[in-house]
Amino acid sequence: LEQNERESLFIALNFAKDFFVKNLETPEGRSIGVSYFKERGFTPQIIQKFDLGYALDGWDHLLKAAKSAGFQEEILLKAGLILQKEGEPERMYDRFRNRVTFTIHNISGKPIGFGARILTKDKNQPKYINSPETPIYHKSDVLYGMFQAKKAIRDFDNCFLVEGYTDVISMHLSGIENVVASSGTSLTEGQIKLIKRFTNQVTVLYDGDNAGIKASLRGIDLLLEGGLNVKAVVFPDGEDPDSFSRKVGSQAFQDYLKANSRDFIGFKISLYRDEIAKDPIRKAEVIREVVQSIGKIPDPIIRSVYTKEASGLLEIEEGILLSELNKNLVKTQ
Ligand code: UTP
Ligand code: MN
Ligand code: MN
Ligand code: MN
Ligand code: MN
Repeated sequence: LEQNERESLFIALNFAKDFFVKNLETPEGRSIGVSYFKERGFTPQIIQKFDLGYALDGWDHLLKAAKSAGFQEEILLKAGLILQKEGEPERMYDRFRNRVTFTIHNISGKPIGFGARILTKDKNQPKYINSPETPIYHKSDVLYGMFQAKKAIRDFDNCFLVEGYTDVISMHLSGIENVVASSGTSLTEGQIKLIKRFTNQVTVLYDGDNAGIKASLRGIDLLLEGGLNVKAVVFPDGEDPDSFSRKVGSQAFQDYLKANSRDFIGFKISLYRDEIAKDPIRKAEVIREVVQSIGKIPDPIIRSVYTKEASGLLEIEEGILLSELNKNLVKTQ
């Protein structure tokens, strides 16, 4: 029975994907949806590759089409495609309306959810509306773009990790296909396990703003704990991989990534470079932070290699780092 329900959900999600994709060919979809994507530099090929689409303006376009096709409201609700009106639960309406849609695929390429972006700069509405958790969409086990990225991740033995849907797509347009997005939430153990099926090396490319840098620091520690080899790149203030690649072009973007990839120690030091130079107390705090990150690494040999590196880069005796490290290790055991 449960298997039947999962199958129905997959079919409903696939129906919605086809519906949103076909909407791009309607006059409304062309003048609003396609124009929006064009404006962002998305080509017809990339629109197709990522199953991008458009949710028409109106309360029940999808609901009506799905019902005519024989879907029951109960399944559409469970699929996260429709909502019940507050106070009048028998009245249903589309979750995604008047937005461009980003299809979220599972690892075998089946649609399991959507992110839908607003088309205006209206600050009173959320920029993205996303599918809820459902029996076929466990958010903590999914990374956006993994289906399109997995082969390249294996081939390059590296996975770029970005924040957003459009970062993934713009990087494909820049010729980089080994990229997935955490979709603006903090990384989970399930997502890290998923990456480890394809590579042990992650390069974090979060947005060049305070939120992005904070998320990078958190993500780096989680990845280190998962036994992954981590690098990170900082983008200029206010830029994300999408905006920056469009601004400088594919070649300069790729060169920037090569020139600015730092391991986690170099990343932390480069973040705090000015403060470290001016303020010894601040420098001590940074050293403690670096040691804490090193302490997350499960492999003692790799820990030791990074301890040596930190000693050199931070100009502090390795013995002091080691005793601090041992304090941390004892605490966490
Ligand atoms: P950002 O705010 O960095 O958006 O959120 P973005 O990806 O750069 O989007 P554009 O370029 O303005 O279109 C990063 C990610 O966080 C999630 C989305 O997955 C988004 O891609 N997010 C953000 C939401 O789920 N809801 C929101 O309201 C905002
Ligand atoms: Mn779940
Ligand atoms: Mn952001
Ligand atoms: Mn962003
Ligand atoms: Mn962006």
